[in-house]
Amino acid sequence: MTNDNAIKKAKKHLTPALVFHTEIIAEKAEGIYVFGADGARYMDFSSGLAVTNVGHCHPAVVKAAKGQLDRLIHAGCIYYNESEALLAVKLSHITPEGIDMFFFSNSGAEAVEGAIKLARCATGRQGIIAFTGGFHGRTMGALSLTASNAKYRKHYHPLLPSVFHAPYPYCHRCFLGKKRDTCSTDCLQYLKDILRHQIAPEEVACVIIEPVLGEGGYSAAPPDYMKMLKELCEKEGILFIADEVQSGFGRTGKWFACEHSGIRPDIITMAKGIASGFPLSAVGAPHAIMRKWPPGAHGTTFGGNPVSSAAACATIDVIVKEGLLENAAKTGGYALRRLKAMQKKHPFISDVRGLGLMIGVEICEEDGSPGTGRMKEVLKRCLKKGLIIIECGIDKNVARLMPPLTVNEAEMAKALDIFEEALV
Ligand SMILES: Cc1ncc(COP(=O)(O)O)c(C=O)c1O
Repeated sequence: MTNDNAIKKAKKHLTPALVFHTEIIAEKAEGIYVFGADGARYMDFSSGLAVTNVGHCHPAVVKAAKGQLDRLIHAGCIYYNESEALLAVKLSHITPEGIDMFFFSNSGAEAVEGAIKLARCATGRQGIIAFTGGFHGRTMGALSLTASNAKYRKHYHPLLPSVFHAPYPYCHRCFLGKKRDTCSTDCLQYLKDILRHQIAPEEVACVIIEPVLGEGGYSAAPPDYMKMLKELCEKEGILFIADEVQSGFGRTGKWFACEHSGIRPDIITMAKGIASGFPLSAVGAPHAIMRKWPPGAHGTTFGGNPVSSAAACATIDVIVKEGLLENAAKTGGYALRRLKAMQKKHPFISDVRGLGLMIGVEICEEDGSPGTGRMKEVLKRCLKKGLIIIECGIDKNVARLMPPLTVNEAEMAKALDIFEEALV
């Protein structure tokens, strides 16, 4: 099948609601590379949307999945399976302290649905506080929390009631006009005002936050904000949910991004990088919270699939064995230094920020307005030169650099050379 044919067929028979970032037909992939049906090789700095953290088709993950395929493909809560149980044990070792029980599902949105159901069930409260700029998925519950862009919510109102949005502490574009180094997280007052004006704290089940804004702009919440938010939650008996669907599994140089601010969430959601591309997600919480979720209060047919679970166990082992957390911190640090040097040369780079290999480069136009058009052009040029980078942010002017955590300094240097050439 030629390129053209495949794309024509896809366009004819896949819903137009799906948006593809490129016109590449991926034939195979290995490590940080994707090979197109046209024979071209691309450096995948999107990691298939923050999924292939250990690289595409890592041999250890492939071997684990194949081994499981030969033994048992499906269990579906009719019987227990070894891989799922082993994964729960492994996760209890790498998730923030206290988190030791898990519910497995298939996608990030499904994990978010599970997390808010657990929070409501465990607290007996209904209110949910999320953040403007946050992305939590597209199913109706998760979508009610998503506020990174009104386009995701358009056509679907009314959404879940009793969901309130506070502004995300996106310091580069502070809506209060404050500067990062002099601000004392004044925006938290907006959340406090919600608790005074709109819903009493004793009616709020949970606050859900991405420790690093993903789709909304690759911007981390300042650690002091996270700490104050957690303190507020503790004071009011509100559960703190960290949505680590995108920022988890080593992406930021730690297993989970909330570790950067020393926060121990009450509930954590994970997906994407968990199983290197096999569909799997999880809700994690301490036993004390999970035991308030009675049998039958939630369930799944495919969640905890044995093949996905075996792939996830292998993924965790690879991250440990290959020192990928350390590599993400080191190579990410190198990238940040180079990008900051680029920023000095090119005034239209308005901000460079990142943790580990979750790096955002924000671009503006000559007049300082968001560089939406410029970014589109830059990414198109990168692609032509064999580098896949995708954008994020409400104005689509933030390049998100999220290569596999296996990327080395030479590969990063090559990608940044291409990126800089494309910029100018
Ligand atoms: C932070 C976060 N939560 C939830 C989701 C939804 O995940 P999925 O697309 O697997 O449903 C995403 C997806 O990008 C995400 O980034």
